[in-house]
Amino acid sequence: MTADPAAGTVVLITGAASGIGAATARRLARQRWRVVIADIDAPRAAAVANECGGLFVRTDVTSVDDNEYAVAQAVHTYGRLDAVVLNAAIAGRCGLDDFTQQRYRDTMRTDLDGVVYGLHAALRQLRQQSSGHVVITGSLAGLTGSPDVFYATAKHAIVGLVRSAAPFLARNGIRLNAVCPGLVDTPVLASARAALLAHELLLADPDEIAAAVEAVLADERTGQAWVVQAGEPAKPFDFPEIPLTTR
Ligand SMILES: NC(=O)c1ccc[n+]([C@@H]2O[C@H](COP(=O)([O-])OP(=O)(O)OC[C@H]3O[C@@H](n4cnc5c(N)ncnc54)[C@H](O)[C@@H]3O)[C@@H](O)[C@H]2O)c1
Repeated sequence: MTADPAAGTVVLITGAASGIGAATARRLARQRWRVVIADIDAPRAAAVANECGGLFVRTDVTSVDDNEYAVAQAVHTYGRLDAVVLNAAIAGRCGLDDFTQQRYRDTMRTDLDGVVYGLHAALRQLRQQSSGHVVITGSLAGLTGSPDVFYATAKHAIVGLVRSAAPFLARNGIRLNAVCPGLVDTPVLASARAALLAHELLLADPDEIAAAVEAVLADERTGQAWVVQAGEPAKPFDFPEIPLTTR
């Protein structure tokens, strides 16, 4: 083993113009990973890519074509793809009281469809290689529920996706995990930040979640939902076994 085993390893990160995604890109770039920044916010994403010496690919994760293009550009530029972090998401656009079909679809299109399209695009490449690791940014809201009900619905679906798909992907040498952060100090929380701090809740630094992503990428386990909270290392959520009934 070399002193720098990650050098040259290629990772594509969606939603990497800001918050957790940007922190993950910076952390992995410091470990000499080659980073591909896939985000809809072109100016900020290009700046992060520049800072990391990486590649920016303008990507709207709600588009199948954009996801496929981002993967294709990563492979075209660096010749391989070792890991994908499907991280882009938005806060829920509505709840049950202010529901509209449009706002509901906007939420699910980004927070669920965008992840499924990203996974689908990545798998075309990872299956050819018979290797690779996909880490999806879930949320504690995907394990416990949240007042942001459709955001939580999408995040629960991500946990279901990871637990269901991982055993099949393992046959192709591909790992699939979710990282499920609690509260993290990013722009998504800006409007609620003061109230959360007033309740003495701890907000994780985005780099703490980036460190968890790095640790999960290095872990051999698959199909896990890794809980990450401020000041605590990532640990897999302990789902109870539910045996099927038998005659
Ligand atoms: N901040 C928290 O407290 C918290 C807690 C748990 C989970 N998360 C999850 O962490 C992830 C990152 O969130 P964050 O807090 O860093 O937020 P953020 O707003 O700082 O970053 C989100 C990024 O996603 C990008 N994005 C949004 N829609 C997109 C689209 N259609 N296509 C491509 N990119 C798009 C944005 O441009 C932005 O760069 C999300 O999955 C979020 O649900 C955040």
